[in-house]
Amino acid sequence: MITKVFYITGTSSGFGRELVLDLASRGHKVIATALSTDWIEDFAKLDNVKTQKVDVTDSPTILQQKVEEAITFFGKIDVLVNNAGFSQTGCLEELSDGELRKSFDTNFFGPVNLTKAILPHFRSTETESLICTVTSMCGIVSFPMAGAYASTKFALEGYFEGLSSEMKMVQAPVRVLCIAPGGFKTELIDNTKKPQNILDVYSPARVYMDSLLKNMHATGGIPKIGAKLMIDAMLQEGSAEGKEIPLRVPIGSDGVDIPLDKFKSQAEAYESWRSFAAEADSAMDGCNTNCN
Ligand SMILES: NC(=O)c1ccc[n+]([C@@H]2O[C@H](COP(=O)([O-])OP(=O)(O)OC[C@H]3O[C@@H](n4cnc5c(N)ncnc54)[C@H](OP(=O)(O)O)[C@@H]3O)[C@@H](O)[C@H]2O)c1
Repeated sequence: MITKVFYITGTSSGFGRELVLDLASRGHKVIATALSTDWIEDFAKLDNVKTQKVDVTDSPTILQQKVEEAITFFGKIDVLVNNAGFSQTGCLEELSDGELRKSFDTNFFGPVNLTKAILPHFRSTETESLICTVTSMCGIVSFPMAGAYASTKFALEGYFEGLSSEMKMVQAPVRVLCIAPGGFKTELIDNTKKPQNILDVYSPARVYMDSLLKNMHATGGIPKIGAKLMIDAMLQEGSAEGKEIPLRVPIGSDGVDIPLDKFKSQAEAYESWRSFAAEADSAMDGCNTNCN
């Protein structure tokens, strides 16, 4: 077995914690990071795990220093797992600029800044490295009261799709993967942030979100199983052995069904608007160089 070195954010609970335990049991080396190393003390007892305090909202300079320090732990990093994140609920009119920016700082700019910090190291190695980001089915479909969270995950999907195409174009030895889970019973549910400013007009959306979160508690996937599938997809082993790994891998049946419904209805809508859209093509025929 080839032993790899993983760098994982947000390992104090949920998927992050399960990823560390599963990878360590498979014999891989892990740098487990968290907002406080006190919350991941037990990992320090494992031979092949090192811990590091990382707040993904820290400045790009600090994140760069963290990555450089982490490379010295085992001499290299092979896989970056952008896992840290949180969910901010609230209807979009209710949310303040600060609340929305905090969501983007953690869920979007955190992964982006860590990716930029690690890319020179990944591009310089001969063996293939992997950048894996935990996005969400909410990176494809948005819901009432989940617009802030979904916006951050849509942004991640766009960023990493672009990065994947750039890595291929310049033939860099870097693979990009987005893991898009459906609903799982992690601490994310109870830690979901509510808006400071509540507008009564949006009560039906609040009732909808409360029942969605209750349903996640009741029927959500088991994080340990989700983490196992994520690792299988990252390493192309276990349940993913022999499969070609696409840019986006869903985890959980709802992570497949809900986006598929959207893809199908969107494909139909695009087809039915084809002739309307094509009117712009004929307009271009008569366009001179001054056309915008
Ligand atoms: N659970 C689901 O249904 C689901 C579905 C789709 C996608 N996801 C995604 O899965 C990822 C992991 O979440 P989870 O479900 O495992 O929830 P979780 O148990 O709440 O774990 C989230 C982790 O991120 C950490 N974190 C939050 N802000 C951070 C920051 N600024 N810097 C560093 N770490 C930070 C949390 O640390 P603290 O606890 O110390 O704040 C925690 O360790 C997230 O990106 C989430 O969006 C989850």
